[in-house]
Amino acid sequence: MDRYAVIGNPVAHSKSPQIHAEFARQTGELLIYSALLSPIDGFAMTVAEFIQAGGKGANVTVPFKLEAFELGHRLSDRAKAAGAVNTLSFIDGVMIGDNTDGVGLVRDIISNLDFDIKDRRVLLLGAGGAARGVMLPLLNESPASITVANRTVARALELADHFSSQGRIKAMRFDELAREKFDLVINATAASLGGDALPISVEVFAENALAYDMMYGKDEMPFLKLADEAGARIADGLGMLVEQAAESFFIWRGVRPDTIPILKQMRGY
Ligand code: ATR
Repeated sequence: MDRYAVIGNPVAHSKSPQIHAEFARQTGELLIYSALLSPIDGFAMTVAEFIQAGGKGANVTVPFKLEAFELGHRLSDRAKAAGAVNTLSFIDGVMIGDNTDGVGLVRDIISNLDFDIKDRRVLLLGAGGAARGVMLPLLNESPASITVANRTVARALELADHFSSQGRIKAMRFDELAREKFDLVINATAASLGGDALPISVEVFAENALAYDMMYGKDEMPFLKLADEAGARIADGLGMLVEQAAESFFIWRGVRPDTIPILKQMRGY
């Protein structure tokens, strides 16, 4: 059977094996997908050993997405735009790197949440790797504008500048945001991880706004709590996780799985 894996450190908590097992069952594809713990300083070796053992492809998670980018012999446009790789394919000795995170986010917003991004005012909170990864797929949906706000404003300026030729992009400090309203507010900071609130006001949410936290978890997330109080629709990143997995599955197997059953299963209804 063809072998796939998610490689990370830590990786035991990953939901990817469960998701891909469900995709394989649903589509009738014969494959094994496991979680592979790599030593922090041994990513390239872990990949080489996995290929040796018959690995056909891998998802890459924290903290190896930049190393996977360096390792790839060939990179997709979306991997180049993201500056990171979350999907590797091993084909006849060639390592191909792609990035499905951004398209996963966009697909969750448009298809699962039924929210059209075209002509909407988008606020992207954060300017790290996660934020960069979703810029190109968001721009491809022709929003009215994307405003990047970050604690360290220099990083927001850098990110906005990097994509400035591809749409209307502004950079702001958090405390400058109160002047504008946004239809779609995406939290791409790591603040939720530590349970931290972001210094944004309820005023940033336009009427009928969607607030999306790219993180997911059982605990209440301060950003979504704030958005809920502001009357916005809220969504966590579980749909993005499942959609990025579906896109990776499609890259490897050429078959697009239905994401709704696994999403329902994981949400417990
Ligand atoms: P990732 O790959 O998850 O994006 P990263 O590149 O380290 O990781 O970026 C983390 C992002 O979360 C950054 O935008 C960071 O802001 P700074 O650039 O100012 O560091 C943001 N972040 C992390 N913790 C935060 C907090 N408690 N409040 C606000 N922003 C936070």
